[in-house]
Amino acid sequence: MKIIPNNKNSDFVCFIEGLDISEGISLSDSNKIDKLINKYAVVVFRDQLITDEQQIEFTELFGKIEKPGNNSSVQKSTDRRLTSKMADVSNITKSSTVYDRNDPTRIFNLGNRLWHSDSSFKKIPAKYSLLSARTVAKKGGNTEFADMRAAYDKLDKNSKSIIKDMVCEHSLIYSRQRLGFDMKTELSDREYKNFSPVLQPLVRIIPMTKRKLIYLSSHIGKIRGWLREDSMCFINDLMEHATAKKFVYIHKWKINDLVIWDNRQVMHRVRHFDDTKEYRDMRRTTILGEEKLI
Ligand SMILES: [Fe+2]
Repeated sequence: MKIIPNNKNSDFVCFIEGLDISEGISLSDSNKIDKLINKYAVVVFRDQLITDEQQIEFTELFGKIEKPGNNSSVQKSTDRRLTSKMADVSNITKSSTVYDRNDPTRIFNLGNRLWHSDSSFKKIPAKYSLLSARTVAKKGGNTEFADMRAAYDKLDKNSKSIIKDMVCEHSLIYSRQRLGFDMKTELSDREYKNFSPVLQPLVRIIPMTKRKLIYLSSHIGKIRGWLREDSMCFINDLMEHATAKKFVYIHKWKINDLVIWDNRQVMHRVRHFDDTKEYRDMRRTTILGEEKLI
């Protein structure tokens, strides 16, 4: 296994060469990869031609798989294209066409273009995400990652003390509201209840590395004990700081890339592509977090 840091002077993003995931990975190699994810937060493998089963088997080396439930999507389970162990972050329907511009699933998935951390709106948020590129867009569709450890380190002393014990409400309702998709009017009361906000701390410490970071996401809509409007001003300022160019890695997808990221340590977003014409087949497996944070 050869490890190539994206930048020699930084511990954000590394490339791993010399492994063929389709052949199966030993326990000692998966332990090494786990340590690299903790250290670099984003780990990239090129040229991994894998099946869904191989991706699931590889993912399970790092923990329990998080299944996409009725609190993470507006799509009916009967409309799913992939197994329930995978999150479909493609723009492709069950009948292999691209989603129409007005399709609610497409509109809901546009939320992936906002900076976020996967499943931060769940009581137990996601740990790692593994994204396999089966078909890539010819133009656009990059994924960007922002390093929340470096963003924390660069905060001034006063801001660090303000956010120290802050608790935020996370919900898909809030991130979709940013796009103008009002779930309150679009969904039934019963469906709407699935998306009730959960509380998460704004500062987290990674157990393995003991590093502190800002646990940010567009799913945040309120700071506990603050007015919603004040909360949004404060969170938007923090997002602006945390997504400055110097904290961001842009991944330009090649077919058969597999990228693992640590949702505890980075935010990510996908960029625009011509999604009503081009096919972008991306399959995600997700590792469930190990604990409730609050
Ligand atoms: Fe995501």
